[in-house]
Amino acid sequence: MDAIDVITTKRDRHELSAEQISWVVDAYTRGVIADEQMASLAMAILLNGMSRREIGQWTEAMIRSGSRMDWSGLDRPTTDKHSTGGVGDKITLPLAPLVAACGAYVPQLSGRGLGHTGGTLDKLESIPGWRASLSNDEMLDVLRSAGAVVCAAGDGLAPADKKLYALRDVTGTVESIPLIASSIMSKKIAEGTGALVLDVKVGSGAFMKNVDDARELARTMVDLGTDHGVTTVALLTAMDRPLGLAVGHALEVEESVEVLSGGGPSDIVELTVRLAREMLAAAGVTGKDPADALKDGSAMDAWRRMISAQGGDPDAPLPQAPESAQVTAPASGVLSRLDAYKVGVAAWRLGAGRARKEDSVSASAGITLHAKPGDRVEQGQPLLTLHTEDPGKFARALETLEGAYEVGDAADPSLLPLIVDR
Ligand code: URA
Repeated sequence: MDAIDVITTKRDRHELSAEQISWVVDAYTRGVIADEQMASLAMAILLNGMSRREIGQWTEAMIRSGSRMDWSGLDRPTTDKHSTGGVGDKITLPLAPLVAACGAYVPQLSGRGLGHTGGTLDKLESIPGWRASLSNDEMLDVLRSAGAVVCAAGDGLAPADKKLYALRDVTGTVESIPLIASSIMSKKIAEGTGALVLDVKVGSGAFMKNVDDARELARTMVDLGTDHGVTTVALLTAMDRPLGLAVGHALEVEESVEVLSGGGPSDIVELTVRLAREMLAAAGVTGKDPADALKDGSAMDAWRRMISAQGGDPDAPLPQAPESAQVTAPASGVLSRLDAYKVGVAAWRLGAGRARKEDSVSASAGITLHAKPGDRVEQGQPLLTLHTEDPGKFARALETLEGAYEVGDAADPSLLPLIVDR
């Protein structure tokens, strides 16, 4: 077997055999196949798709490229959530301790942001002292003591995906349903969770721009999870506007802590509680309702345990950007839309995102929203506050925000409901 044979099979719209899939994923992981050959195959997959059998076997091969974690020694069920990524999506931060406070274990391996979408690890790293890298033993210790752990996947978990994702990111081959589904599910299945709730984002700020594509991605991932014995549920949720009122790492931690204190923006609270109920139901855990755990302080207690167990100081002040600028409402009326993608790119340009995966991010950069679509605004009132460490970054961020918002008579009727479907 050779790489050219596999590439031309897919280029000519034929199905790859089980042997071809197993060989190509293994050979790429071992460095036998060159990056340019894998990039060519990824582009052929993006253009010509994969059958359900191919996606299943591709996912299997990525899982087999590394080790699998095993939580069977724990005394309570495990459950996890994965979001396909968006702008202002800090839901994991309040959600993981909330679900732990309601009686399940949450072993969550998370990622970093790339492009306009934020990553959970970057957000948590704005807390002084907090560590994303844990050994398997440390992960187990945090899980036992706090009920939830959020950390980086070690090198041994689905290494084929680590290599392939980095390659896709720079070769225009991210937006392929078979490749996204197998990438996400290989990591989640290898992570060993018993139950999984997928938050599949739809809209300008998401990988899936329309509901039909999001539904196909959701269905593909639910099938993969179910086939591997993981109880898997998916929600389709809105990402046509940012989630909550904060976009940027420290700003999002601050907003998450407000939610854990029983306050916070209503969309974040609604989605967090709904996902928590789904995660607990999928794991078969009944008892405390998540809405009560946000009010009675038990979710906050779990958060403090989780942050401290990973070296963080939950009471330390968060970094604050020294420079700010405001965008004001051009007229009085109703904010009819606020584009998630443009807000995400502007936050990225203020320093919250990376251009290459080795880049570091600014913990304090980002954007605070003062109104959401549907809110009444008065001419000249602040709509957005931009935060950065480097005032030289304002010009490009402001340029990006041109056309990102509109004030009219009513909310744009094409805005998606927060929860589009289950
Ligand atoms: N997140 C992943 O982990 N993989 C993808 O391909 C896309 C989003």
